[in-house]
Amino acid sequence: MKALNSIVTAIPPSATLAISSKAAELKAKGEKICAFAAGEPDFDTPDCIKRACAAALEANKTRYVAAAGLPALREALCEKLATANKISYEPSQVIVANGGKHALSQVFLTMLQPGDEVIIPAPYWLSYPEMVRVAGGTPVFVETHVEDHFLMTPEQFEAAITPRTKAVVICSPSNPTGMMYTPDQLRAIGEVAIKHDLWVVSDEIYERMAYGEVEQASMASFGPEFYDHTVTVNGFSKTYAMTGWRLGYAAAPKPFAKALSSLQSHMASAPNTFAQWGALAALKEGEPEVQKMVAAFKTRRDRIHALISAIPGVKCPKPQGAFYVFPNIAEYGMGSLEFAQRLLEAKHVAVVPGIAFGNDRCVRLSYACSMENIEEGVGRMAEFCAELRK
Ligand SMILES: Cc1ncc(COP(=O)(O)O)c(C=O)c1O
Repeated sequence: MKALNSIVTAIPPSATLAISSKAAELKAKGEKICAFAAGEPDFDTPDCIKRACAAALEANKTRYVAAAGLPALREALCEKLATANKISYEPSQVIVANGGKHALSQVFLTMLQPGDEVIIPAPYWLSYPEMVRVAGGTPVFVETHVEDHFLMTPEQFEAAITPRTKAVVICSPSNPTGMMYTPDQLRAIGEVAIKHDLWVVSDEIYERMAYGEVEQASMASFGPEFYDHTVTVNGFSKTYAMTGWRLGYAAAPKPFAKALSSLQSHMASAPNTFAQWGALAALKEGEPEVQKMVAAFKTRRDRIHALISAIPGVKCPKPQGAFYVFPNIAEYGMGSLEFAQRLLEAKHVAVVPGIAFGNDRCVRLSYACSMENIEEGVGRMAEFCAELRK
């Protein structure tokens, strides 16, 4: 057999695989697992969205639409971006893709030349480095620290820039840490990017899961120079509990958007037509449901953070957004994979080892689960930690 693509074959299997297969094995044996591994809301997609999609199917809206997405949806997205994010885009600058992940992959393919470096603050969402590599780029990690709430400082950012740097990825609220940059902190990062003429890929997918402590801001809203250097990425998965619908979007300066749209026309033709009609209803009618889900996440965030912080030796800054906590378990003298494996075996609690996100001192718990799961699972984790301390 001829050799396969060397970049693709070098992609390592997910570090979470060992945990998820063990959890599945225990479940199959009838054990009750307290799972904190989900990266998706546990709510159902709101009815108004499902009804609009069903009506679109019924009305035979089943054919290809414009490569960059349904015009009505792109117009509605422009309205949303103008009112909620204070960024002015025209519909031709918005590309609807098959999920935020697909939007991001295409953004890197559009942006990068072989060998270009992309700065990624660590811990990071685990797909960024692979997307950058597949697009021919080189991820450059900047390690952030629990003491700084896992936020990259402008000084750290500037120190990592080389003549090959093309872009920086900012995810706020963050997966996996749940932390957010304040508007001033974001602006300071943007200023460094502008000074060095770099792109900012602003992943705003968790923007609505922001619980009021830090104002959510969009990089491109800070002024024309910020706008000219930013690609704004977002999606429907998290805000509207639509993970399986596979719809996300990117908005960018005109030449970038044009190139991105051409790329998508060849790679995907267009996103799913009837799903886009559902997404249009999400933007127009989904707000009351979003508010209910966000309120539930906030209550759970408060509870899980209080329970985790009460475990001796566990350091966990209070996350201001997303639906994750990222406690530091380094005090227990083992790496995150071993901690996660032993916790699963001993107490049947499934967490994601931080090593998957480039930080081996922490584990990630998603609180997109019931309050009962939070109470019981974190209780079991506290017992596990107490036994380790003996
Ligand atoms: C930080 C971040 N960005 C983007 C995505 C992409 O989500 P989707 O492809 O479902 O829109 C995810 C999903 O987990 C994420 O956590």
